[in-house]
Amino acid sequence: MHHFHYHNDSLFCEDIPLERIAKEQGTPCYIYSHATLTRHFQAYDQAFASVPHIIAFAMKANSNLAVLRLMSSLGSGADIVSGGELFRALKAGIPPNKIVFAGVGKSHEEIKYALESDILFFNVESSAELQAINEVAMGMGMHARVALRVNPDIDPHTHPYISTGMKKSKFGIGADRALEEFQKAASLSNIQVVGLHAHIGSQLTKISPFVDSLTKVLGLLHTLKGKGIPIQYLNIGGGLGITYSDETPPHPKDLAEAITPLLRESECEIILEPGRVIVGNAGILLTRVLYIKDTDAKKFAIVDAAMNDLIRPSLYDAHHDILPVHQVPNAPEDVYDVVGPICESGDFLAQNRTMPLVKAGDLLAVMSAGAYAFTMASNYNSRPRVPEILVKEGESFVVRKRESYEDLILGEQIPEFLKS
Ligand code: LLP
Repeated sequence: MHHFHYHNDSLFCEDIPLERIAKEQGTPCYIYSHATLTRHFQAYDQAFASVPHIIAFAMKANSNLAVLRLMSSLGSGADIVSGGELFRALKAGIPPNKIVFAGVGKSHEEIKYALESDILFFNVESSAELQAINEVAMGMGMHARVALRVNPDIDPHTHPYISTGMKKSKFGIGADRALEEFQKAASLSNIQVVGLHAHIGSQLTKISPFVDSLTKVLGLLHTLKGKGIPIQYLNIGGGLGITYSDETPPHPKDLAEAITPLLRESECEIILEPGRVIVGNAGILLTRVLYIKDTDAKKFAIVDAAMNDLIRPSLYDAHHDILPVHQVPNAPEDVYDVVGPICESGDFLAQNRTMPLVKAGDLLAVMSAGAYAFTMASNYNSRPRVPEILVKEGESFVVRKRESYEDLILGEQIPEFLKS
């Protein structure tokens, strides 16, 4: 459920026609609905109300400061994967004691920054990283709280690029080696083992992989308890999918219902790291058709947004619905490739898409673009990144300005020897 809807054939975000935003802010731009963000967070939070838990919003999905601030005001913490994300989370007012830090390649500087910030814990992905954290903590005269990320070897049945809990993946510590690693961790002088983490992938549309993973993890928790390594936090990651086209992912309530008995059995405080399910359908990318190009092979709708703005279709062959901002009842349809101005054939937002006829100047809404959309944008082809706009009822707020050409060269320098 989201708050993008037609009213008199004109597409609105909450109480604002998208056409007005296009007029005021230009295109392309990202638009987020405050009501949808709030609703999705609360639905997830309430679904797990019966177990003690912290939601650590996976900010890689959307790290805009205003979005993070909203999450924080709703009670969220953050799942971070870099020093940059830690910086953003703290700037947005997310309490450090609700921040957890994952990722296979944390640098010494990032570890130090996280220790100084007193985050809740690190999700440790390897034996080597554990050593590094121990050393950095020792150098600072501190103890580092850690959870070990276990790789339960479960197939989440999702796109291979976003599947993370199988043996061949770079993430976590193999379940067969986990006990040994936990024992090693517990013996390190400046490490305090507090948690166990397992995140198996993203855009999961079935409950069973969550249950299978958790069942394996519970077995391990039991063994650890027996060995005198009690675990306080169980971090079950994120991964719940959303509807992009015809997927029917479980509602957070259904997921919670299925796994709550297992979570209770763990006797741990539960950390949840949802990303996409909170923000995915709370955002769109608004774009304008520049030209229609009719060739013998194809009809192209060339729009002003491109793969640098939204890379998911190019990178994962991901489907995003594309809706006309003005719908014409019973409009004839045609088949289009919706492409951007970038000089690559991989620059498309949709291929072979049947859509109501479009013409130059039309506005299109690329749907489900709140997650892994702006955060994955780049300046490729020296295209300034587009603004992000937050809509709350009848008001809109620019929460990130459109970049200027000057922004594009920020920090670049021509050495003296090239100037003469
Ligand atoms: N926790 C960890 C440790 C993760 O690696 C991720 C996502 C999440 C939580 C959040 O997962 P979510 O609830 O959003 O599924 N760029 C890709 C998605 C990459 C996901 C990476 N990790 C895409 O556009 O589909």
